[in-house]
Amino acid sequence: MKIGVLGTGSVGNALASGFVMAGHEVRMGARDAGNEKAKTWAAGSGRGGSSGSFADAAAFGEIVFNATAGTGSVEAVRAAGRDNLRGKILVDLSNPLDFSRGMPPTLFTTPPGDSLAERIQNEAPDAKVVKTLNTINASVMLDPGRAGGDSDLFIAGNDAAAKERIIAFLKEFGWKRVLDLGGLTAARGMEAYVLFWLFLFVAQKTPDFNIRVVKP
Ligand SMILES: NC(=O)c1ccc[n+]([C@@H]2O[C@H](COP(=O)([O-])OP(=O)(O)OC[C@H]3O[C@@H](n4cnc5c(N)ncnc54)[C@H](OP(=O)(O)O)[C@@H]3O)[C@@H](O)[C@H]2O)c1
Repeated sequence: MKIGVLGTGSVGNALASGFVMAGHEVRMGARDAGNEKAKTWAAGSGRGGSSGSFADAAAFGEIVFNATAGTGSVEAVRAAGRDNLRGKILVDLSNPLDFSRGMPPTLFTTPPGDSLAERIQNEAPDAKVVKTLNTINASVMLDPGRAGGDSDLFIAGNDAAAKERIIAFLKEFGWKRVLDLGGLTAARGMEAYVLFWLFLFVAQKTPDFNIRVVKP
């Protein structure tokens, strides 16, 4: 499958490399088509990897992943282009973190009635935005066993078929437990959780962890 990855950071690299290793073709996108990080990644990824602008990556992908800094995600999706995303699944794993006042960060969204995923859906109304993977570290995203044991991944989105397709896709990477939280408004909670994740990270002294929901 052809996959577009918007983002050249640790998440963009982890996903793009993992997808190529699984046999997919990946185009990594950045603000500038000549972005050095994206070019370096593509050069080292063999025939399965290429790079370009956000619009190039969005046009290339049958499925597109948004792995850009939360503060720039709406801008990145705008640059990706409404037409390039039309009818496609746009998997959003960004977090609305504001580091401008140091650590710990705050959210720049207001979770009771707002989320970054919903802002992204508004920016790309003809795409099927699916929120997932934002509650775990990049190292765990395509390697759930790294967190130790079976843990839970969460998913939300307004298109049921799009969520089913992404759940099936993530199963190929070892995710056995994917909890569907419903429509995209659930992203408000998934994104707010990341503040708690940061405190868990400090307490656990490793980013390689996850949570599991249990019930009787
Ligand atoms: N790091 C993790 O383990 C982790 C885990 C879960 C979720 N996330 C979320 O995943 C996303 C990516 O995280 P990351 O650590 O890999 O990278 P990052 O440093 O947060 O983001 C890098 C990407 O954001 C783009 N970007 C930055 N400012 C922008 C702007 N104003 N307009 C458009 N694009 C902009 C950069 O574009 P250029 O390439 O053009 O510079 C680059 O591609 C974030 O939203 C983060 O919260 C991260």
